[in-house]
Amino acid sequence: MTILDEIRRFWDDDAATYDDAPGHRPTSPASQAAWTAALEALLPPPPALVLDCGAGTGFLSLMAARLGHRVTALDLSPKMLARLSTSAAAEGLDIAVVRAPAHEPPGGFDVVMERHLLWTLPDPTTALRAWRQAAPAGRLVAIESLWGDADPLEALRGRAWKFVQRRRGTPPDHHGPYPAEVRGALPLGTGTHPRAVAKLVGEAGWRAPRLVRLRDVEWASTLEHRFPERFLGLTPRFAVVAS
Ligand SMILES: C[S@@+](CC[C@H](N)C(=O)[O-])C[C@H]1O[C@@H](n2cnc3c(N)ncnc32)[C@H](O)[C@@H]1O
Repeated sequence: MTILDEIRRFWDDDAATYDDAPGHRPTSPASQAAWTAALEALLPPPPALVLDCGAGTGFLSLMAARLGHRVTALDLSPKMLARLSTSAAAEGLDIAVVRAPAHEPPGGFDVVMERHLLWTLPDPTTALRAWRQAAPAGRLVAIESLWGDADPLEALRGRAWKFVQRRRGTPPDHHGPYPAEVRGALPLGTGTHPRAVAKLVGEAGWRAPRLVRLRDVEWASTLEHRFPERFLGLTPRFAVVAS
C-alpha cells in the first residue's frame, strides 16, 4: 500500500464523523459569520473559478459557493467528497467534484485554496508548484493553524487543552490516530508554523506571500467555550495569500 493509499483510507474512515468536531465544521452563527467574512476578504470578487484542494466534506467549498464563486472540490477520499456532494445538494449549490491527488490538479482557475491540507502532503512543494500551473495568473489562499511541535509554547497550550477536553469526556476530533509511519513521512506532519508555510509558498514560485491572522474566526470560536478552555485560548489560525 502506498502512502497516499494509507492517507486515503484514513480519511475515508474519518468521513462519517469529521463534521462532528466543532473545529472542523463550526455551526454557531457567530463562527459561520466570522468564517464567511474571512473567506470573502481572502478571495477575489465573485464569480471566480475556485479550486479547493483537499476539500474534504466541503467546509470552504460550500462557503465559497454561497459567496457566488464557481467551485471545484478536489480530494483523494471518495467518502469525504460524497459528504460534500450531499451537503451541496441539500443547499442547492452546484460544486464540481474531482477525485485526485493534490499534486495533479485540473487547470484553468483564478484561485487555488486549501484548509488544513498542507500538513498531510508527503511533498507540499510539488503540490504548491502544481497549483501555480492550475492558476497561473491567479491567487493562492492557504488556510492553516499553528499547531504541534512547530512552536514550543503552542505545543504546551495544545497539550493543556487536550488534557482538559479528555477530563470533560469530549470526543476526539478524529476516529483514530494518524498512522505513525505516515506522519513520520510528512514534512509538516508534526506541526505547522506560518514561517514554514510562507517559506514553502515562496519556494514553489508563488509571488509576494502575505500572512493574515484570522483573529475574528478565533474570537468567535473562543466565545463558544467555558473556563478553562476559554482562558487557554485556541490554536492560532492564519492564511498565507500569494499571487
Ligand atoms: C484535515 S482534512 C481538511 C478538509 C477540508 N479542507 C476542511 O477544511 O475541513 C484533509 C483533507 O485532505 C485530503 N487529502 C489528504 N491528502 C491528500 C492528497 N494528497 N491529495 C488530495 N487530498 C488529500 C483528505 O482526504 C481530507 O479530506
